[in-house]
Amino acid sequence: MLRTALTEIDWKGDVMTDLTRKILRGLSLVGFLLVGWLSIQFIHMSEMNAWAGPQSSNKSTKAAGDAERGRAVFNGKGVCYYCHGIDGNKDQRPQLAADTAALIAQLNPQPVDLRNPKVLYLKSDKQRARAIREGHPGTGMFPDTTMTTQELTDTLAYLALLRREGS
Ligand code: HEC
Repeated sequence: MLRTALTEIDWKGDVMTDLTRKILRGLSLVGFLLVGWLSIQFIHMSEMNAWAGPQSSNKSTKAAGDAERGRAVFNGKGVCYYCHGIDGNKDQRPQLAADTAALIAQLNPQPVDLRNPKVLYLKSDKQRARAIREGHPGTGMFPDTTMTTQELTDTLAYLALLRREGS
């Protein structure tokens, strides 16, 4: 009787330690995953800071572009003004070489009036950034590969200004 009781206790004890071990192992796994997740978050955060550069150490200016600088890109290296007009004024195109002008005149659809929000169909800066970077499929708007990320951000800020001025 006593012997069986003892073995029973022993057996129970074994089960308990087994269970405790399992729980402990489970806990350490959770801890391990948590540490891993935290370090990934940390790396991610420091990478974002590295990309953002010294200019955006001030959080509030992080995503903001400079419309005035964007305007210079628009009327300059971005060559947006070739098609969309100087300062986005559709009928103020620069003096272009005859063949370039002819090419633009043939575009179908024609370049949109970026000052008239009613005729614009892109709804977010994300879509606009993509249209600028990758071009408009099926239109004459070719992809831009020369702008820096900052210049693109500035251009988007300028486009927003044009829409505000136009409406
Ligand atoms: C070769 C001519 C051409 C150039 C250069 C050009 N675009 Fe366009 N763009 C177009 C055409 C054409 C459309 C209209 C596409 C459509 O209607 O589907 C357009 C559409 C757009 C749109 C979408 C407007 C909407 O409907 O919401 C944006 C934004 C835009 N252009 C910005 C720019 C910017 C910024 C640049 C300079 C980096 C630029 N474009 C350069 C021809 C041009």
